[in-house]
Amino acid sequence: MIVRIGPATLHLGDAYQIRPTLGFMDADVMDPPYEFRATGGGHYRKNRKGMDQIVDEGLDQGFDHRVINPLLCGAAIVFCHNDQLPKLLPYLDGSFKRQAVCIWRKRNPQPVANKHYRPVFEFYVHAWNDGYHPQGALADLDRQVTAYSPRGADKFGHPTVKPDAVMDKIMANVAGERVCDPFMGTGSTGVAALRAGKQFVGIEKNPTHFQTAVDRITATWHSIQQEAA
Ligand SMILES: C[S@@+](CC[C@H](N)C(=O)[O-])C[C@H]1O[C@@H](n2cnc3c(N)ncnc32)[C@H](O)[C@@H]1O
Repeated sequence: MIVRIGPATLHLGDAYQIRPTLGFMDADVMDPPYEFRATGGGHYRKNRKGMDQIVDEGLDQGFDHRVINPLLCGAAIVFCHNDQLPKLLPYLDGSFKRQAVCIWRKRNPQPVANKHYRPVFEFYVHAWNDGYHPQGALADLDRQVTAYSPRGADKFGHPTVKPDAVMDKIMANVAGERVCDPFMGTGSTGVAALRAGKQFVGIEKNPTHFQTAVDRITATWHSIQQEAA
């Protein structure tokens, strides 16, 4: 299924099949399934239903890096778990000219460490080839953004929704007009892309999350049109 909403085109289906058919994008901005150990958590885990949903939906199993193809995008922004950095950075280093590890600092980190460090940060890597370097004035080019985690399971029925403030900051740093998110979830990248005046192509395989993305991006597009009227 394909849904078109103003400058956004949303595909319901498998990223590994659909992304290669979409052609060149200025940037692939993605929050793919993380790869991390989702067991444990002690007493707190019982109250943390979002983690059960992460496991149920396989969002702790990682992703195939080859969906990031430097022949099909000028830049890639990839959210990842701490434990993925040792694998992701060499892949991006072999595919793009430069890369920067950036941080989303959480105002409300989960109160759990689980035999690791407390998840106060999440990471995203911005990798780019010539002509697609990070954009913005000096003040926009911090490698860190601070925001509340939206706790998306309650609001959108999805356990890993990214905050608008983080996605707006990323969109301010992305070069070009055409942005693709192959792991769209509830459409947070699409919302930010439209607000930044960009074109957006999203892919999501889960029909429930796909519909949430359709609803969010439709509402965003309507409010942009109303503001312009
Ligand atoms: C970490 S979540 C993205 C959440 C998103 N950033 C948001 O704010 O809502 C990853 C999403 O990728 C989807 N996904 C996983 N594998 C996929 C695949 N092969 N093709 C398309 N979507 C996939 C999952 O259903 C999940 O919604």
